[in-house]
Order: sequence, then C-alpha cells, then structure tokens
Amino acid sequence: MPATSAALKVEAPVTTPTTNAKVLAFVEQARAMFKPDTVYWCDGSPEEYQAMLKVMVDTGTAQWLNPDKRPNSILVRSDPADVARVEDQTYICSLKEEDAGPTNNWSDPAKMKETLGKLSDGAMQGRTMYVIPYSMGPVGSPIANIGVEITDSPYVVANMHIMARVGTKVWEALGDGAFVRGMHTVASPLKSQTQADVSWPCSTTKYISHFPETREVWSYGSGYGGNALLGKKCHALRIASVQARDEGWLAEHMLILKLTNPEGKVKYIAAAFPSACGKTNLAMLVPTIPGWKAETIGDDICWMKPGADGQLYAINPEAGFFGVAPGTSDESNYNAMQALKHDCIFTNVGLTDDGDIWWEQMGPPPANAIDWLRRPWTPKSGRPAAHPNSRFTAPARQCPVIADEWEDPNGVPISAILFGGRRASVVPLVTEALSWQHGTFLGSIMASEKTAAAAGKIGELRRDPMAMLPFCGYHMGDYFVHWLDICSLPCTKNPKIFYVNWFRKNADGKFLWPGYGENSRVLKWVFERCDETADAVDTPIGRLPTADALDTSGLKIDGAALKELLAVDAAGWKAEVPSIEQHFEAFGKRLPQGLKDELEGLRKRLG
Ligand code: GTP
Ligand code: SPV
Ligand code: MN
Repeated sequence: MPATSAALKVEAPVTTPTTNAKVLAFVEQARAMFKPDTVYWCDGSPEEYQAMLKVMVDTGTAQWLNPDKRPNSILVRSDPADVARVEDQTYICSLKEEDAGPTNNWSDPAKMKETLGKLSDGAMQGRTMYVIPYSMGPVGSPIANIGVEITDSPYVVANMHIMARVGTKVWEALGDGAFVRGMHTVASPLKSQTQADVSWPCSTTKYISHFPETREVWSYGSGYGGNALLGKKCHALRIASVQARDEGWLAEHMLILKLTNPEGKVKYIAAAFPSACGKTNLAMLVPTIPGWKAETIGDDICWMKPGADGQLYAINPEAGFFGVAPGTSDESNYNAMQALKHDCIFTNVGLTDDGDIWWEQMGPPPANAIDWLRRPWTPKSGRPAAHPNSRFTAPARQCPVIADEWEDPNGVPISAILFGGRRASVVPLVTEALSWQHGTFLGSIMASEKTAAAAGKIGELRRDPMAMLPFCGYHMGDYFVHWLDICSLPCTKNPKIFYVNWFRKNADGKFLWPGYGENSRVLKWVFERCDETADAVDTPIGRLPTADALDTSGLKIDGAALKELLAVDAAGWKAEVPSIEQHFEAFGKRLPQGLKDELEGLRKRLG
C-alpha cells in the first residue's frame, strides 16, 4: 500500500546550516513557489542516506533487496514513461538564441522562467523540499565547483549522496561564495489531505532547462538520472562547459583511466564515447595482455584544466557511477560487478525469486523473475527483464581498481584523448590524429548509433561531436573554436588524440572486435604511440597501427576480421564527405577555419 504524504516528512533542523545570504534567498524563493509541507536541509550523513532509503521503501518507491545477497541495497522501479534523459525537452535558455546554437533547443530565459514559474506554483504540495549542498570534485579542490539542488525526490537525495560530495562540509567550503542553482521537482503535488501517493511520482510535462549566463538549472517533471540528478549532466556538463569556455578549461563527457605498463610507467587517458557506448566498461577494464594494469579515475565526466607545466590536468567531478546495467557481468566488467556487491541503488532492473537483481547478460537467467514493469517474467517471456537503460548507482570507492589518486584535488595529467562511437562500418578500430587540430576534427565529426540512454529511436546514426551533442551548454561552433584554442596557448604538451571504434560489424551483424578487456591491446598501442615506441603508418584518414604494431598475441581473432578492422575504407570515407559537409554547414559562420581546412585536407588525401 502506498503511504500518504505524512511518511515523506523527515525531521528538519531548527536553524539553517549556512548563513550564505544567496543560499537563504534561493531556498526561500523556492519554498514560496513550490509550497512544500516541509523544508529539509541535507547534511550528507550516513544516517540521512539510510533515512532516504527508508522513506522510499515506506512509500513504495523502492524495496529492499535480500540483505544476504545485496546488503543495504534497494531496487527502484520508475514510471514506465520516465526511463531516460529527454533530449527533446532539454533547453539551453541563453539570453541570445544564437548562443545556444543549432544543436540545442532554445527558449527565451524570461519566457521559460515564466512558464516554469506557473507550472511550479504549488508543485511540491504535500511533499518535503530537500536542500542538497553538493560539490562536483573533491571538497575544496581548486578545480571543484559547488551547487545547491532543491528537490522533492528522496530518490534524488540518495543518488546525489553517492554521485557527488554532499553535506555540511560543502557549506563550509562555500562560505559566502557563488554556486550553481538547481531546482528540481517531480511535479506531482499531493493536493488534498487524502490523496494517495504513487510509487514513482512524475509528470507527463517535462522541462530540463538551463540558464547558462546565470548558472541555473530548472528541471520539471522527471525523476530519472540525468534529468533529475542535477550535479551530473546539467551542472557538470551543460553549465560547466560554459564556465569552462569562459575560464579556459574543458568540461567533457569522458572517462579517465590510469594505465601502467609492465615497466611501471604510468599514463592517464581520457575517452569520450556517447551515452551507452562503453565509457564505464573502458574505465574499469581488466587488461588481457600480461603485465599491463588499468585503474579507474572516473567513468563519465572529466574536467580538464591547463597546469603550470603546460599539461592538461583532469579530475573526475563525480563520486559514484550511474552505470548502464544490462550487459554488465563478471566477464564484461568484473570490477563494476565487484562495486555492486552492497550499498547500491538499482533502478529498473529485474528482481529474482530470492530477492536479488538480474539483467540481460548478467549471467544465466533465473527461471522466474519479476521484470522492471513488476510483471512475472521467465526466460521465455520474449521481453527483457531489465529496461535497456536500467542503471546502478554505486559509490566510486567501492570499485576495486579505483586509483589511489582518484580524489587528487590537483587532478592527473592527460597523455591521450580517445574519441569513439558505435559505427558498424567505415571507422577503423583505431586511428591516431595527425595533430591537435586533426584530432579536434575527428572529434567534431564523431557519429554513433543512438542508444537507450535517451528517449527516441534506437540505432539511428547521428553526429555526436565529442559525445557532447546532448550536453554542450552553448553554440557548438564556439565549442570547436574553444577546443582548437585550448591547446595552443595554455597547453604546450598537448595530449595525442585517437579515434576508436569497438563496434565494427561483419556482414552477419556480428561484432568484428571482441572488445571489453581486449581493448587493452588498443590502449597499449596508444600508450606506446605517446612515447613513440610503437609503429604507425600514415593514411589519408590518420595514422593506423602497422600490421605488427598492435599486440595480438593470444587474441582469438580471424585474420580477415583483423584486416578489415585496420583497413582504410576509402570509398566509405569518400561517401561520408558530403554528410560531414552538411553537418558542418549547420554551424554557419561559427565553424572555425581550422575544421574547414581539415575537411579539405581529408578530401584531398582521399583523392
Ligand atoms: P553512459 O553511462 O550512458 O554514459 O554509458 P557508457 O558510455 O558508460 O557505456 P557503458 O560502458 O555502460 O556500455 C554500454 C553498453 O555497451 C553496455 O551494454 C556494454 O556491454 C557495451 N559495451 C561496452 N564496451 C564494449 C565493447 O568494447 N564492445 C562491445 N561490443 N560492447 C561494449
Ligand atoms: C548518459 O546518458 O550519458 C548517462 C546517464 O551517463 S544520465 O545520467 O541519465 O545522463
Ligand atoms: Mn554518460
């Protein structure tokens, strides 16, 4: 039985934990508009986390998993219509429309605020309004950035506890300073004393709105992932990309990985792949080549700043993983599975008879289960037990290969940047860019098949520059300019750039490359290219490994497949040129000359 709103109330402190006048005004304005029953200031304590889990269980949002199998972990099932980011309802409300650029939905900020203000009037009635102080990045780090999220969702509070640094220490670090303002409501007020709550309140009307100039986010109607955990995509990418442009750094949709060779030499590699295209997997991979070690710094977001020594230094602004569940197994991602043993939140996965979780490819299917839609499920049901965008939320510290320096406030120096997407054809397994400008070009033309991480058609090929199409908070032409600029002046030791593709398929639709741990072979080549100890051959599209430069010892792969993976498909690339031109045309006058030159160069080299 879903409980009434009374169960949602959590004891609130009598005095406010900060005297920051901007915070107090922000919270008071939100309270006056949303009209919640109660205001609760989050302190980030473990007790508070437990209280949130209990509220979710008591109100039917969540259920405990079997404590013998998955201690202190819950299963949450969302509304079937609230399962992924909603890109069509995501807005960049810059003062000028042209500053949002051709790839973003734009709305006038004043108009958007008027619309949302009307919708939000009383939107938290019958609920508790939580105030979450959070830091993206280690508290007090010179690269970190503070935000305050207001929300009426205990699911958001609990997830933010895992994904960001939350609590009283953030108020201390903030002092009287500025912060990113985030307002979130599930937009499902309980208007009468007798209205029962539903297990996953949300609204059919959804807005994920960003106000880049004033560093604000206003999210309405969804409780899921990147729509609702405002520190993640909204703050750490859309708002931060604007801050980064203004201040001379980069906020990117990238994993960060530490790679150690058999001699003990270390390099840090960042990689941008679109949503559900392999970042978490690469960030935690178990190398299949002897003597090589990989450790995790971050799996989704990377903030990079030029250091005094001319290198780019990166931090992971997050504190947890909000990872794609289906496909995760001991074979594909052993370290993620280890991180999921306890103290996790699972959303929209299957539930087994013995109170544990299951998803597609996790292991042998259970004979009986309850699917994410709460329906009885068997392996013969003909539908997945877990939603394709079902997710786990796990603290990063639970990952057995988290690197010692993952919370280093100064970040780690980046030697190489990888771009990649899901490309069934044309794009080889790995290509080294000829220069920073050429690498920026390769990033700018990245294309990938759409995945379940966003609502919409799956499998459709779309250009997703630097995996930032849904996350760049300003005009993408200006973003390319910023990319070209960043590594001329402040950086003297540019990372090398590579373009990878784990997703080439043969005529039967089977993957040509085994992927996962075997991707370490490509990482080894990347590592050695940075030191110029591995061979490469110049081709019209960039540098490719020579026949024996890629370590294939012990790899079970068909010779013809390997040849195809490392071949230049000149005809395929020629056929791409018009679509790249079309893609570039959208950016108009803001497309930098450097990228036009690169396209011209490619065309010439292809002959
Ligand atoms: P977001 O969290 O949405 O940003 O996704 P992500 O980029 O972290 O993707 P993730 O690592 O979770 O992988 C998504 C899907 O791709 C999973 O189903 C994986 O099993 C699959 N995948 C990851 N790496 C590989 C690979 O090397 N080869 C193949 N074939 N599939 C992969
Ligand atoms: C993505 O879609 O890239 C994610 C999941 O990492 S979400 O947090 O929902 O954006
Ligand atoms: Mn992501």
